[in-house]
Amino acid sequence: MEKRTVGPMPYMSVMPTVLVGANVKGKPNYMTAAWATVACMAPPMVCVALNKERYTVKGIEENGTYSLNVPSVKQVVEADHCGLVSGTNEDKSKVFRSYYGTLKTAPLAEECPVNIECRLFKSVDCGSHRLYIGEVVEIHADTSCLTDGKPDIAKINPIIYAQATYFGVGRQVGNAFSAGKGYRKK
Ligand SMILES: Cc1cc2nc3c(=O)[nH]c(=O)nc-3n(C[C@H](O)[C@H](O)[C@H](O)COP(=O)(O)O)c2cc1C
Repeated sequence: MEKRTVGPMPYMSVMPTVLVGANVKGKPNYMTAAWATVACMAPPMVCVALNKERYTVKGIEENGTYSLNVPSVKQVVEADHCGLVSGTNEDKSKVFRSYYGTLKTAPLAEECPVNIECRLFKSVDCGSHRLYIGEVVEIHADTSCLTDGKPDIAKINPIIYAQATYFGVGRQVGNAFSAGKGYRKK
């Protein structure tokens, strides 16, 4: 297979689309983030890379708490809006209905089928962006999106982000921790 270098860039083939919720000056603010992933299994941790200029960052620093909200494809307009507009210039507190869980200062977006409450564990300065690592304190999931008590990707219907485009979830191509059992040495 012929390869060509395409230069260094912060590349991942696919990314999730989440809304980072934080209270800034006592008001909920939501910002779109695609640079988010899992950081640790035990204790459960997730992380998100945020540009230091984001209004949301003020809230995370202020409270030491925030949320990651997983929108479904139904919320693509609201999700993109929160990535186009900054809370510095416009009040985004009413884009979603907010409620609070275990952490009393991390706003959770009711319309998003999954809400992850995070307590800030550590942040790492990487340059333009700071990596916020948060301990998952609780997860709230719409009962309609659960299968056997666990969040079900097919029911959540999350927004996938790649190449400045939003996608839905594609078809299943195999079972993890199982498909590899069919491997035969070359
Ligand atoms: C699809 C999408 C993904 C984004 N991902 C990130 C991200 O991972 N980190 C980041 O700092 N900004 C990201 N942004 C930009 C912020 O969402 C945007 O600057 C937003 O206005 C910040 O809001 P705030 O100033 O109210 O916090 C993304 C925007 C979009 C549309």
